[in-house]
Amino acid sequence: MDRLQKVMAHAGIASRRKSESMIEEGRVKVNGKVMKELGYQVKRHDTISVDDVPIQKEKPVYFLLNKPRGVVSTVDDPKNRDTVVQLLQEVEERIYPVGRLDYDTTGVLLLTNDGELANKLMHPKYSVEKTYIAKVNGRMTREDVMHLEKGVVFDKVKSAPAKARIIDYDRKRDISTVELTIHEGKNHQVKKMMQAIKHPVEKLTRTHYGFLTVEGMQSGVWRELKQFEVNKLKQLVDEED
Ligand code: URA
Repeated sequence: MDRLQKVMAHAGIASRRKSESMIEEGRVKVNGKVMKELGYQVKRHDTISVDDVPIQKEKPVYFLLNKPRGVVSTVDDPKNRDTVVQLLQEVEERIYPVGRLDYDTTGVLLLTNDGELANKLMHPKYSVEKTYIAKVNGRMTREDVMHLEKGVVFDKVKSAPAKARIIDYDRKRDISTVELTIHEGKNHQVKKMMQAIKHPVEKLTRTHYGFLTVEGMQSGVWRELKQFEVNKLKQLVDEED
């Protein structure tokens, strides 16, 4: 990883020497905190701002992955498990996932190096719709659906109303298939919501992130977003500004 002043210079902020002065003057923040250390080694997921304006470290790039099971949605894993970023190893830019899917969750995952857009997409204020298909234990009832639609309490907080639809019930295995659309993105949100109504998740896949889907893409396959898709994503979060 590069030193902070080098990253700033590459981003076109100023020469390396001038960037050093800006750091010493306390004008530079890393992950929201003033950073006055000249040799600071920038980590992949660090967000840097100068005078509180986020800097774009590299040319912004945007990718869509059909995440397989058995990979973590982080850049580095302390347990040395495979990461989603390793699946896109040909990509030279320092990308990271927008939000997380659990190790065993599959489906739509966005990756980018555009910190500003990523932060907005993850911010509850913009509430991007995410749709999941969950296979859950037990027979789901209309009451369960109404419960999800009203909001369920987990971790002492009530979730925002979700859209829910029962798709199928497998009597032999006692497994229901349910489609759930939510705006929130708390850790293990869907699993906790379903646990709260006593239908623990057996299998989970995300089918939509806003308007993005991985239809026609095999598990583990990724592609770069088209310009109109990037524009549309930006519109999703700009309308609310
Ligand atoms: N909710 C979960 O519980 N897990 C995911 O991976 C995504 C949403």
